[in-house]
Amino acid sequence: MSDNPSSPILLFDSGVGGLTVYDALRKVLPQAPVIYAADLAGLPYGTKTEAQIAARVAGLLGRMAERWQPRLACIACNTASTIALGMVRDVLEIPVVGTVPAIKPAAALTQTGTIGLVGTEATIRQAYVDDLEAQFAAGKRLLRVAAPGLVQAAEAKLRGRPVDPALIADVHDRLAAMAGPDQIDTLVLACTHFPLLADELAAAFGNEVRQVDGADGIARRIAHLLEGQGFAATGPDRFVVTGPLAGAEGLEEALAARGFGVAEAF
Ligand code: DGL
Repeated sequence: MSDNPSSPILLFDSGVGGLTVYDALRKVLPQAPVIYAADLAGLPYGTKTEAQIAARVAGLLGRMAERWQPRLACIACNTASTIALGMVRDVLEIPVVGTVPAIKPAAALTQTGTIGLVGTEATIRQAYVDDLEAQFAAGKRLLRVAAPGLVQAAEAKLRGRPVDPALIADVHDRLAAMAGPDQIDTLVLACTHFPLLADELAAAFGNEVRQVDGADGIARRIAHLLEGQGFAATGPDRFVVTGPLAGAEGLEEALAARGFGVAEAF
C-alpha cells in the first residue's frame, strides 16, 4: 500500500487506446495522479510475436516502475495483457491490473447467442482467449476477427484525422460472413483502441448491436485495489511516449481535453 499520496497510477498501452481506460478511471478516481505511457516506438503490438511483446512490455514496465515509483500499474492493452501479464507481475512489486477481452459480460448480454470479438491478430490467437471462451461462453458462438486497421484508425482519429469507413465496413463484412444466417447482437471490443471508434462501429453494425469493452470494469478494479489510499496530484497528469516526441504530434487537443500536460519523451 502506497503511503506517498503523489505516487501515480501507471497506465500503459502501445498507443492511445489505453485512454479509454483513463477516461473510465477518471470517473471513479478523479483525484488520483496518473502517468500514461504510450509505447509508440513499439506500436502496433498486434502484429508482433508473443516473444517480442513479452520481452518489450516486461522490460519497459520494469524501467518505468523504477523511474516513477507508481503505486499500481495497469496494462491498458489486451494484446500486452493476454501475453505478458504474468511476466509483468513477476517483475513488479506493486499490484498490476490487466485488460482481458470482455467475453464474460458479452456472453451474459447476448440474446441471439452469436457474439463478434474484434481484437488484434496477437490477441485473438491467445490461449487466454480460448480459456475465457470455454469458461464463460460455452454454448454461444464467439466469432473472432483481427482488425489491425482499426488500431491505426483510432490513432488517426485522436489526431483529428478522418477514419476510412472502408476499414469499418471490412470488419463488419468479415464478421457477417462468418455469422452466416445467425445474427450478431453483441460485439466484444477486445482492443483498448476500439471504443474510440464506437460511433463508426455503431454506424456499420447498427445501434442495436451492443458494444462491450472492459474499461469500466478495469477502472472499478483499480479503485477497489486502492481503496483507503490518499491522493495528492502535484500537477497535471503526464502523457509519456517512447520513441521520438513527434509521434505524439496531433494529439494536443485530445490530451488537453483530458487534462494532461504536454507530451513528454520517455
Ligand atoms: N491497444 C492494444 C490492445 O488493446 C493493441 C494495439 C496494438 O496493436 O498495438 O490490444
